[in-house]
Amino acid sequence: MDDQVVAVIENKPLGSSYGLLSLDAARQAQAARPGQFAMVRILGTGGVLLRRPMSIYDVKPDAAPHSGPRLIQLLYKVVGRGTRLMAGLKPGDPVALLAPLGHGFFVEDYLEQAEQADEVLHVAGGIGIAALLMAARELAEKGFKQRLFFGGRSRGDLVGAVDFRPYLRQIVVVTEDGSCGCRGYVTGPLEDHLARYPDRRFLLLACGPWAMLQATAELAGRYGHRLLVSMENRMGCGLGVCLGCCIRVEGEGHGAYQRVCTEGPVFWADKVVWERGTLPIT
Ligand SMILES: Cc1cc2nc3c(=O)[nH]c(=O)nc-3n(C[C@H](O)[C@H](O)[C@H](O)COP(=O)(O)OP(=O)(O)OC[C@H]3O[C@@H](n4cnc5c(N)ncnc54)[C@H](O)[C@@H]3O)c2cc1C
Ligand code: FES
Repeated sequence: MDDQVVAVIENKPLGSSYGLLSLDAARQAQAARPGQFAMVRILGTGGVLLRRPMSIYDVKPDAAPHSGPRLIQLLYKVVGRGTRLMAGLKPGDPVALLAPLGHGFFVEDYLEQAEQADEVLHVAGGIGIAALLMAARELAEKGFKQRLFFGGRSRGDLVGAVDFRPYLRQIVVVTEDGSCGCRGYVTGPLEDHLARYPDRRFLLLACGPWAMLQATAELAGRYGHRLLVSMENRMGCGLGVCLGCCIRVEGEGHGAYQRVCTEGPVFWADKVVWERGTLPIT
């Protein structure tokens, strides 16, 4: 993990509320693993004190041939002051980047679990898609079959789907208003798929709003599949110090809480206590 001031290379708007920020951060890009995140602070504005957590969406090489990863890309949704400032960044602007953070998808056993599965199913809600691209690529490179179930409120929320195409056999899109794909929640077609293939073994990876993760965990439990969830929570330090990001997990006493920033952000869903109020935000 490195704390560096890095320069913006590109900041590409994706519709009215989303953007893709590319940062010149070779050391951090080379160290980044699927499912890890960064803490980002916009410099020179005076207003935003805390850093903002963002999944490392992708790492990209330099234009030079055979060079390793040099750019860190963050896919963001504008929801408040910090992300509004992010949307205003221009090439050359400085950004304080603390990355990579968290353990991401468990190196120890997520590939092993994928090996035992017939197919890996990604389940994303809105900007939760940002946590899954690097895992999809790593799994594709190892030859695993994969499918993505991607839900949003409307068509404009389905950013990033195109980047998954080379790695997946199918992308199922769902919108609440029916403006793209089927109408409803992403868990609808996911359940259809699980019910259609009762003899198949799936590994699920999910990221999105609390209610979506909880519903996905319930489905995974009911149909007997393993599920890794990438959790989001308000974060202060991102380093395991402030304890502001704790969630409830199976266990007692101090063991009943874990920090999303260090023990997570990825957890096995059956270890999380899915009760309302575990996370302060929905
Ligand atoms: C590990 C992790 C990875 C994340 N990855 C991404 C990502 O790749 N792209 C992205 O756009 N966002 C991501 N988020 C959420 C992002 O951190 C927040 O949207 C951002 O901090 C909001 O900052 P703000 O100043 O714009 O909004 P604020 O003014 O701080 O808040 C505006 C609104 O956003 C809500 N909000 C604030 N923080 C969060 C949060 N952590 N999760 C959900 N809602 C929040 C608030 O409740 C409020 O309603 C991630 C969060 C975590 C913990
Ligand atoms: S954000 Fe401070 S402990 Fe996790």
